[in-house]
Amino acid sequence: MSRQAGKDDAARLVAEVRAALAEWRRAGVEWVAPEAWGRPAPARPETHVPGPLAPEPVAGPRAAAAPPPPAPPPPRAPAPAVPARDLFGFPVADDRPRRRGGAGLFAAEPAEPPAASLAEVRERLGDCRRCKLWTGRTNIVFGVGNERARLMFVGEGPGRDEDLQGEPFVGRAGQLLTKIIEAIGLKREQVYIANVVRCRPPDNRTPEPDEIAACQPFLRQTMAVVRPKVVVALGSVAAQTLLGTTRGITALRGKFHQAGDYRVMPTFHPAYLLRNPAAKREVWEDMKLVRDALAALPKEE
Ligand code: URA
Repeated sequence: MSRQAGKDDAARLVAEVRAALAEWRRAGVEWVAPEAWGRPAPARPETHVPGPLAPEPVAGPRAAAAPPPPAPPPPRAPAPAVPARDLFGFPVADDRPRRRGGAGLFAAEPAEPPAASLAEVRERLGDCRRCKLWTGRTNIVFGVGNERARLMFVGEGPGRDEDLQGEPFVGRAGQLLTKIIEAIGLKREQVYIANVVRCRPPDNRTPEPDEIAACQPFLRQTMAVVRPKVVVALGSVAAQTLLGTTRGITALRGKFHQAGDYRVMPTFHPAYLLRNPAAKREVWEDMKLVRDALAALPKEE
């Protein structure tokens, strides 16, 4: 490209940017530098009129006859909540490398902004009626445990006891899960426990795809807050949801799988172990791998 053609291009670009900015201002859109996104807007004098719409300065004696100051602009609509994002649009709350791709819960960049705490995720969930399970529930069973746990367990969905008490894994299967946790030297309070769906399916049936889909953003947000180093998927529903596969738990268990930023160990569900105690041996093998993976982590992580 010749030097002149380059200059022409640059001039055209500048003119286009100016025209676009003027158009935005006319439409009431205010330019905010990306590094200020998510911060409250600075206080402005009431009479501020943006750039080209401001009255021309009037010099000399004509100033006396200057028109009255412009009317204040109409009140602004409150700015929509903008999550803290870097220049490239990635959320800055989670500063780890963000692995996306494959299938499953972390296949793509989440549509929802990151939450700062589990309380915020719970607040977003509200009195959820996003799927039909709300009609039969007593309590939403959100999750329980350490908000900064290194180890997280994901089950399928609340049963009768969980629905009544509002806490996951408190029935017979839950008592077995507590023993499994203790078998690797941890206390239940040290881990985080959640389910794929937060409302009890009728008669403890398997959650349906639309119910799982409705609850997925909340599992994803929960995991993004807790940021566990290892996730144990209890049973097929949890493993298939996290990994985005239709393979069964027998094929998946016994080794780590990656789901986004998370190392996932699928294993048999404690309720299955209550019916098939012989399978405890395999779960113990899986849990030893989990214990070793946690032990290998740097202390400060
Ligand atoms: N089974 C689950 O999958 N989750 C619970 O919370 C209880 C039983």
